[in-house]
Amino acid sequence: MVAPTSIRLVFAEDVPQVSQHVRNLLSVQSQVKLLEVLSDGSKVVEATQQLRPDVVLVDLLLQGKVKGPELIEKLRDSGLEIPVVVLTVPQHPLARDQARGIDAVLTLPFSGFELVNTLAHVLSARQAVTSGACRVVSVFSPKGGVGKTTIAFNLAVSLGQLGVRTALIDGSLQYGDLRALLKVPSDVPSILDLPTDRVQESDLREVMWKDPAGIDILLAPPRVEMAEMVTVRDVEKTISLLRRLYEAVVIDTPVVLSEITLSFLDASDVVLSIVTYDSTTIHNTIAVGEAFASIGYTPEKVQYLVNRTDSTGGISRDELARALGRKPEFEVVSDGRLVVQANNEGMPFVVSSPDAAVSRDIRRTAAALIGRPVGAAVRP
Ligand SMILES: Nc1ncnc2c1ncn2[C@@H]1O[C@H](COP(=O)(O)OP(=O)(O)OP(=O)(O)O)[C@@H](O)[C@H]1O
Ligand SMILES: [Mg+2]
Repeated sequence: MVAPTSIRLVFAEDVPQVSQHVRNLLSVQSQVKLLEVLSDGSKVVEATQQLRPDVVLVDLLLQGKVKGPELIEKLRDSGLEIPVVVLTVPQHPLARDQARGIDAVLTLPFSGFELVNTLAHVLSARQAVTSGACRVVSVFSPKGGVGKTTIAFNLAVSLGQLGVRTALIDGSLQYGDLRALLKVPSDVPSILDLPTDRVQESDLREVMWKDPAGIDILLAPPRVEMAEMVTVRDVEKTISLLRRLYEAVVIDTPVVLSEITLSFLDASDVVLSIVTYDSTTIHNTIAVGEAFASIGYTPEKVQYLVNRTDSTGGISRDELARALGRKPEFEVVSDGRLVVQANNEGMPFVVSSPDAAVSRDIRRTAAALIGRPVGAAVRP
């Protein structure tokens, strides 16, 4: 089931009567929100990149510089992975053909019910494909130093140990926390070495750093100023390709909620928000939680992990749960000696000390995030 007002639509249409007809059909319902009608086919891909609708509706008979069939092709090749519904007339019959980027066809005249149902159907079909195959988890916090990098790394390695093909992205693009943690030489390729426009799976395979702990890592650029060269579009395309190659993708993110960080979070199934028993961290987490809710992130998407859960600093568990509005989903204990030493050696503690309480907590989190029972098949 698709929730009310959950489908955001962009419509490529140059015949005013048809766009008005669709507007009228949509005016009596609340499930679909028409973001924009574009009569110029050459502007649609760019507008789609910016508006990030859930579905694009294209009139097959669209005229102008970029006509209907060409626009459908461009949207398919754009890497945006947004489903396309094609509108046609009985004189120009067309069949659904996903290889050509046609997710569904609507033939005029159609009812508002048919229109909304078709849009809802293609969207849920697309979501089933993407969420079924791969789980993308961003590790985020609006406060620095709470353990994001440590948790992202050990979580990814834990998933690998569970037999899940896992990629880790260093989304902390300016400082490249993982490059530092793992002491990777500065000439090892990064996300910047991917071609900007047409990234292929083979490009990704070449750029991923194969960590001895059994996971592949997409590193951040080696120098601070290079971070600016990574675009939202690069991020979207890269993650959609990684979804095809891996069963899980973990993303380490920086504190700053920039456009790029948001694109990592948008592309994630779960935003794992790291909290500690520290009043400013809790305050910022609540503030950012409200911002997430206002941009449509569901409570299932935003999950809380309390790091160093035994260092409560005088704040009770109930107080924390009340402040967050619910009991946090995950907890990881503190282990200063083990964690700091493992980090200094660039080793995942889930490998060097698998029986430590902190490693068990990370393993439990990893298993829950991919819906596996804890203790299931560990890779030798
Ligand atoms: N559960 C834990 N027990 C003990 N120490 C921890 C734990 N988690 C993280 N740390 C320590 O906290 C410090 C900060 O961790 P980390 O660098 O992972 O945080 P971060 O959120 O990624 O920071 P930044 O905001 O700078 O990116 C490190 O010294 C790390 O070893
Ligand atoms: Mg970090």
